[in-house]
Amino acid sequence: MPSKDIVLFRVKSRIAWITLNRPEALNALSKEVLQQLSSMLDKAKTDATVKAVIITGAGDKAFSAGADIKYLNQATPLEVRELAQLAVTVNNKIETLGKVVVAAINGYALGGGLEMAEACMLRVAVRHARLGHPEVRIGAFAGFGGTTRLPRLIGKGRAAEYLLTGNLMSAEEAQQMGLVNRVVAADKLHQEAEALVLEILAQAPVAVSMTWEAIHRGLNLTLEESALLGADYFGLVASTEDFRAGTKSFVEKTSQVFSGK
Ligand code: HXC
Repeated sequence: MPSKDIVLFRVKSRIAWITLNRPEALNALSKEVLQQLSSMLDKAKTDATVKAVIITGAGDKAFSAGADIKYLNQATPLEVRELAQLAVTVNNKIETLGKVVVAAINGYALGGGLEMAEACMLRVAVRHARLGHPEVRIGAFAGFGGTTRLPRLIGKGRAAEYLLTGNLMSAEEAQQMGLVNRVVAADKLHQEAEALVLEILAQAPVAVSMTWEAIHRGLNLTLEESALLGADYFGLVASTEDFRAGTKSFVEKTSQVFSGK
């Protein structure tokens, strides 16, 4: 397969769909995949018509089975470090894109694949998906951000169990822990992921964007600072036409279409 096809990009209904496209290798993350993904994220960030991103995997078996183990097995420690640094940069890019990014998990999300999904703001998974960090089972390490993000998403104790044993979880278990937002039938994954995004895009755009930022920035602050940041952002949101119109329509019992101003 020509290398240009290993990650796909298309825009539909204001959403950029990014698809990892190495189904024969369960969408394993090679250097080339991560490099292409990185430039597609740049495209999604700078394209003003793109309001949200959905990342998924080709085929029905895997979102991504993680870092390319065939590469890891023959790489030098420095090359492994470079791959991990590239993946961490990509995951940080996903997390700080400034637009809602949803992982549509179409099967296995393991190791580096789960780390990519953990960097997304929201996760929708098919019922047959299996998620986990099996790195320790092959003598590797969750070095794409898993030891950082999983504890923040599901708590230290639960994350430690999965990271230390390498056990996998079902989509339902992941949902019970709050790691996955919605579990859906396999043939409804794209529809449900898109519906979730469109539900968000139907809300007041500045309020959504400030909420996104308050969640993201707030998690890196103390609780008190984070709550005060929320108060500041509320003040900013109150300067928008949508805030005036939205609160007025509540009072007057009318419906509101937001302008984004
Ligand atoms: C490279 C992979 C791969 C991977 C699967 N394949 N996972 N290639 N890297 N991570 C390839 C297989 O070699 C095989 O190719 C093809 O995909 C189909 O996979 P099978 O194993 O035959 O499928 P199946 O028997 O159904 O088992 C599915 C599976 C298993 C349970 C998901 O593939 C598996 O355990 N994969 C590895 C999962 C893992 O350990 N991930 C963590 C990676 S480390 P061939 O050519 O043989 O047909 C990681 C660390 C991040 O992510 C940080 C590092 C710095």
